Amino acid sequence: MRISVIGCGYLGAVHAACMAQLGHDVVGVDVDEKKVALLTAATAPFFEPGLPELLAETAATGRLAFSTDMAAARGATVHFICVGTPQKRGENAADLRFVDAALDALLPHLQPGDVVVGKSTVPVGTAEDLAARIAEVEPAATLVWNPEFLREGFAVQDTLHPDRFVYGLPEGPDGQRARAVLDEVYAIPLAEGIPQVVTDLATAQLVKVAANSFLATKISFINAMAELCEATGADVTELADAIGHDARIGRRFLNAGLGFGGGCLPKDIRAFMARAGELGADQALSFLREVDSINLRRRVRMVDLAREVCGGSIVGRRIAVLGAAFKPNSDDVRDSPALSVAAQMRLQGAHVVVTDPEAMENAERAWPDLRFAESAEAAAAGAELVVLATEWTQYRELEPAHLGTLVAERRILDGRNALDPAAWRAAGWTYRALGRQ
Ligand code: UGA
Repeated sequence: MRISVIGCGYLGAVHAACMAQLGHDVVGVDVDEKKVALLTAATAPFFEPGLPELLAETAATGRLAFSTDMAAARGATVHFICVGTPQKRGENAADLRFVDAALDALLPHLQPGDVVVGKSTVPVGTAEDLAARIAEVEPAATLVWNPEFLREGFAVQDTLHPDRFVYGLPEGPDGQRARAVLDEVYAIPLAEGIPQVVTDLATAQLVKVAANSFLATKISFINAMAELCEATGADVTELADAIGHDARIGRRFLNAGLGFGGGCLPKDIRAFMARAGELGADQALSFLREVDSINLRRRVRMVDLAREVCGGSIVGRRIAVLGAAFKPNSDDVRDSPALSVAAQMRLQGAHVVVTDPEAMENAERAWPDLRFAESAEAAAAGAELVVLATEWTQYRELEPAHLGTLVAERRILDGRNALDPAAWRAAGWTYRALGRQ
């Protein structure tokens, strides 16, 4: 099948390569010339495990091309819209300008029978607007919604073997025809028995934001418990293990710490609240405001804890921050809790040195005022406090005795509850974490 993928960021680049891997003829279209040049040379423009290998493999088949010219999408039967929907500046709502621009550029190239597939995370109601615009120009093309649930760091696996496929279809024969087309696109993973939920457009758009809101709520729930644990001397990791054994609750996404960041959960819950307000249903989502504040409070608490262990002030203190990415196995620093903590400590007078195995370039671009070091050892040299902010495996495996020889003071804050407190304390470190004694 001939497929175009519009928008080649974290979502689109992976989607395009995976569609080629499934045997389709794919063109990825993006306005960013640099990104297109890199992808054309089978080079991943960002860090994503497995993507470089997949790009090399699919480029060799000749089934994957990239272009900055939307005319390259003409002739494809299926057009996936994979552009970003960031938060609007100074507002909670989603900024739909990239979705609108993608559709505007695509419209003149649509042909009868084409299926336009929305994958971007959008406020409910967007699909209906886009469908109306398509109908004006090419009434014989159909818009469907097929939200994406991939996690950065596992994007290839999540695209080729998702937990489920959700199809939001318009009513009538056009919807059924589009469904058959999508079934053909995903024939290989569907044959694995991956569940399929076929529904209407509104539900499909809501599924995505509902899923991300649930995940954000789960994280903030355990972080609220962490606040209680701090007030009572209890241990949030043991609490999470204990409640997580209940299959109705589950242990995943109950890791207390610095909370959620990234380009999805924070902006998605805010856009969802904004949309609910427009729909007159703001009360239904008022709890998400609390989810957001619990999440942001953890970052402030981390800085307070730094002050506490440094004897009341961090002014002039050398602090090493391990991690800049919003989570391990990613170079994405959008709304990164790690960088937010590093920046707050710097603003409060500390001499902060940040390190990260993959996200340094993005971090330096986002926070040019921060200082950076190439390795955990280099960042820790002479430090009076070490803060673990992103739980990369190499930081989890740091040797307390060895790191202890490099620092000026053996003090560590575990922002992700990822270290073994006993091992660090045994090596003479003052160990503190969020939600534990
Ligand atoms: C999230 C969702 O998990 C995906 O299903 C969704 O497709 C994606 O957003 C999206 O909308 O595109 P992602 O942003 O890659 O994926 O990251 P997550 O793995 O969900 O982690 C989000 C944040 O929560 C990270 O900062 C992570 O450190 C934090 N987190 C996660 C916790 O603080 N505790 C946990 O127990 C789990």
